[in-house]
Amino acid sequence: MSWNYNFGVIPYGPWWRAHRRMFHQHFNQVAADEFRPVQLQEARLVDMSVNIRAKFGDSEEARYQEEIAKNVTGIAYAAGADTTTSAVESFLLAMALFPAVQKRAQAELDRVVGPTRLPEYKDLDNMPYIRAVVLESMRWMPVLSFGLPHAVIADDMYEGYFIPKGAMIVANQWAMLHNPEDYPQPEQFKPERYLGPDGEIDASVRDPTTISFGFGRRICVGRHFSNNTLSICIASTLHAFNISAGVDVDGSPIELSAEMKGALVANPREVPTGLVPRSETAARLVREAVTDLDVGPLMSL
Ligand code: HEM
Repeated sequence: MSWNYNFGVIPYGPWWRAHRRMFHQHFNQVAADEFRPVQLQEARLVDMSVNIRAKFGDSEEARYQEEIAKNVTGIAYAAGADTTTSAVESFLLAMALFPAVQKRAQAELDRVVGPTRLPEYKDLDNMPYIRAVVLESMRWMPVLSFGLPHAVIADDMYEGYFIPKGAMIVANQWAMLHNPEDYPQPEQFKPERYLGPDGEIDASVRDPTTISFGFGRRICVGRHFSNNTLSICIASTLHAFNISAGVDVDGSPIELSAEMKGALVANPREVPTGLVPRSETAARLVREAVTDLDVGPLMSL
């Protein structure tokens, strides 16, 4: 597999469009409902391959489609794993540093989900504070501070600056997400900034995901997928665990700071490890979920 699998770095054109189309068909449930039957039928690479062969036989077209299928599944892992993990780590850090936020989110989960089950996607509609925690996790410590470079397709003027066609533009996503005009006290993790007086998400507050996933036709193709993963991960973790800094190998409390490390994809320097089940029932729910998923003994609870 060469870098060709990564359609984030291939130029605009038919080869890129074919990848982007297949990605939407298989990963973006929210983007296009009509693709849902294909997604249910072809959830695995091997199924995709079998269906491609059934449709196109042993032909050049089948090999072309298989190459795209292979690339799309490869990039879903390469572009999706580190980035979403980074957002989860920022969320864990925020919960340890801002315990009042954690308590308020858990109160919402207790009210909407209750103690006898884990959260489901449909619960998110009734949990605006959890949705606000997800938004703030995407803003507070941006996964990509500078996004990916873009090239200007026509001469442009911006605030008195002439930007010639072909110039490379690097968007300072970190600065935009920490602009105090949009997000007062930007260093604070404040999910309530997204809520209106009625407790629902206030559409007049700038949605940070319109910045953190990039811009234009190359905007992150996995943003819906990532948003779903992050939302259910945040809801489930808060429902089942109390999160604190934890202790180091010597048993001393870990000192947390809101510092980042990394380059293209950034992560918090320290990640809390003090996750304790909120109750025996919560521990059992997690054990049952692990058994249902058949992923083996991931943890000892
Ligand atoms: C928190 C999670 C994520 C963040 C912050 C993120 C952010 C970004 C950004 C900033 C770009 C560049 C957009 C631009 O050119 O302006 C991008 C591109 C891309 N992302 Fe994501 N991403 C995330 C998760 C994912 C996931 C889960 C997937 C796949 C399952 C994915 C697949 C891609 C791909 C394929 C591209 C290249 C798109 C193209 O050039 O057409 N990303 N992402």
